[in-house]
Amino acid sequence: MAAAAGAAGPDAGTGGAAQRASLEELAVSVATEAGAMIRDERPDGLGVARTKSTDLDVVTEMDTRAETLIRARLRDARPEDGILGEEDGLTEGTSGLSWVVDPIDGTVNYLYDLPAYAVSVAIVVGDPTTPGAWAPLAGAVVNPRTDEVFHAHLGGGARLTSRGVTRPVRVGSQETLDGALLATGFSYDRGVRRGQAAVVADLLPRVRDIRRMGAAALDLCHVAVGRVDGYWEKALNPWDIAAGLLILGEAGGVASGAAAGEPVSHDLLVAAGPALQPVLRAEIARLTSAD
Ligand code: IPD
Ligand code: CA
Ligand code: CA
Repeated sequence: MAAAAGAAGPDAGTGGAAQRASLEELAVSVATEAGAMIRDERPDGLGVARTKSTDLDVVTEMDTRAETLIRARLRDARPEDGILGEEDGLTEGTSGLSWVVDPIDGTVNYLYDLPAYAVSVAIVVGDPTTPGAWAPLAGAVVNPRTDEVFHAHLGGGARLTSRGVTRPVRVGSQETLDGALLATGFSYDRGVRRGQAAVVADLLPRVRDIRRMGAAALDLCHVAVGRVDGYWEKALNPWDIAAGLLILGEAGGVASGAAAGEPVSHDLLVAAGPALQPVLRAEIARLTSAD
């Protein structure tokens, strides 16, 4: 992913606009179906099925069920594509295109029934395991609890569909940190959180406020629609960000790593509108180099 999330030329190895629009439709339909399933079939008394990277990184039975459903739908529609999913890993394809899937982004919110979780489905060309090594073609992020579908295809702009109405979306125009409403997120690694807390402690008195909403895909979409001015987080994975980065870029937003123009990576993602992003990026880079 280049500095601007939609920076690759619209037709540079990325199929035609009509193909990308139909991939967007598929992403929307699969993510919407999985979103309805996790909302409507969430068991009462849902518990933790297992933990992954740390004791805080939980998986519920519905994460697994949602990924199984999404994989089945994508395999039926496009059997030649690869799929990288958070719960079941990478299935190689033969088309050069891969779906990047977070079956529930915001699992801890989902566990507690907080209405800020999403299904994120994107299709990329290139290496789906490394943000800087792919070009996004299409994607959708669905929050089934707010009935919101954020969606885009490369070169086609970003849209929000809610209650049957679709409208184009655009990032906000905030330029300075002092009036900026920012979002961030925290790692499942308790040690990494110490450094993240220090960054927040430094920044909080100097901005409008900071939100921790708990779903990275939604955080990116919230920048895309101007609900927050900027967002940063460390240690994100491809499935957290593949769809959201495309939607952000198509909404006029910019995302990078710590250095200007550096692709987003597991080390750092800083996203904002074009005026604020360089300012926020420089500040987060300065603070995180010390954490
Ligand atoms: C997590 C959420 C959270 C972010 C974490 C992610 P998950 O994804 O996006 O907001 O802070 O870094 O891992 O585990 O709920 O899919
Ligand atoms: Ca996630
Ligand atoms: Ca997840």
